[in-house]
Amino acid sequence: MGHGFGGCLQSFTILLLALSMPCSHSLRIKNRIKTNSAVFLSPKFELGPGSVENKYYHDIDFPIGHIALKRLDAEVVDEAGSPIPLHETYLHHWVVERYRIRKDVLDVEHDATQKLNQSNFMFVRNNGVCQGNYLGQYYGLGSETRKTATFIPDPYGIETGNPAEIPDGFEERWMLNVHAIDTRGAVDRLGCTECKCDLYNVTKDEFGHPLSPDYTGGLYCCYDQTQCKVKEGFQSARRSLYLRYTVEWADWSDFFLPVQIYIFDVTDTWTGLNSAEHHCKIEYEVAESCKTTTGVMSNECIDTRRNKARIPAGGYVVYGVAHQHTGGIGSTLYGEDGRVICSSIPIYGKGEEAGNEEGYIVGMTTCYPQPGSVKILDGETLILESNYSSSQPHTGVMGLFYILVAEKLPNPTVSMHSPL
Ligand SMILES: *[C@@H]1O[C@H](CO)[C@@H](O)[C@H](O)[C@H]1NC(C)=O
Ligand SMILES: *[C@@H]1O[C@H](CO)[C@@H](O)[C@H](O)[C@H]1NC(C)=O
Ligand SMILES: *[C@@H]1O[C@H](CO)[C@@H](O)[C@H](O)[C@H]1NC(C)=O
Repeated sequence: MGHGFGGCLQSFTILLLALSMPCSHSLRIKNRIKTNSAVFLSPKFELGPGSVENKYYHDIDFPIGHIALKRLDAEVVDEAGSPIPLHETYLHHWVVERYRIRKDVLDVEHDATQKLNQSNFMFVRNNGVCQGNYLGQYYGLGSETRKTATFIPDPYGIETGNPAEIPDGFEERWMLNVHAIDTRGAVDRLGCTECKCDLYNVTKDEFGHPLSPDYTGGLYCCYDQTQCKVKEGFQSARRSLYLRYTVEWADWSDFFLPVQIYIFDVTDTWTGLNSAEHHCKIEYEVAESCKTTTGVMSNECIDTRRNKARIPAGGYVVYGVAHQHTGGIGSTLYGEDGRVICSSIPIYGKGEEAGNEEGYIVGMTTCYPQPGSVKILDGETLILESNYSSSQPHTGVMGLFYILVAEKLPNPTVSMHSPL
């Protein structure tokens, strides 16, 4: 099943449960809470050379009940279950969002107006920090998904499905957005993945609004059912694909400490004056600032963006990871005093096969600080830095930083057995 650790080994350290639920493989296993793991397929989507799918699937298969989410990994596969490499199907992003819906409301998928009616539908966003529902997801990755660790160490978990928080008559469900671009036979593979408007022959957005002439690429040009330019005469079959996702979770118990999810965006224009006024634009452009023929990066060939955002509530950082696109060379989140909270660096592929595609970001390094070692204060202003190579122009790039923060430290007998 492609587990990083496999079966019981992923589970948790707690002697008490070990006595009642022994796991027979090794001594180490005895001390862990059992987690569940399941593999799901998204609804099917179909792609032909150059085509784009950007769909929102409501009420997806997902563990329900009062649980601790521990891990969510994903990849694009075909009908035979074979992984599809990024140079064929570029996974622009997938995002998992949580919502609550009145039990008798049947169809939000085809009746979007239902979603506007707050007495029927409630989006449950993460803990911040962008405006409205922007970047409100629980999970979200792109091309880096195959080699980016998402597990949450003991004894932490993302708490969902707490019945005490779900209003009467409502139930909690999950939505999945998958944005995939088929670049088989593309005239300009990178250009298609960067959603360059001329390659899509797009001058108006999805809703028919004309795009400004200086908007040269990004999500407004590669929306659902758009078509990127393919080489003259190139033929290849349309095929059915799925996002296959593996979720690991455990029933919620006192053992777990909940984490808060924050996503920071380097395009956020928050000024520091009004804590509520965020404006995350999600994407930005990198202008070419120099030509390198040697591929050696000099300082002039780095585009550095920096911004600030205040975290509403502090705590101990449990996990951190950045999200960047091709051209990205690293991102760091700093505290107000300049200390490093987490640095996350892209891992580029070196070959052909799925998970190691040359020229693509196939993973991001993650941070798993020693318990208690990285603390953020309540209301602290954090600084986010995102670096890209500017030896060629890029459109539609991102600089996001995702952190999980716990209010409390684990009790020492638990952390002693932590697998980290
Ligand atoms: C919202 O939903 C409630 C409950 O189904 C319904 O009574 C109300 O008329 C709806 N409001 C709008 C504006 O559609
Ligand atoms: C680009 O779109 C225009 C209309 O918006 C259409 O007339 C033209 O044929 C398209 N070009 C290509 C190459 O598809
Ligand atoms: C970003 O680049 C600048 C140089 O422009 C460098 O000082 C900084 O350390 C880099 N940060 C990251 C996160 O790579």
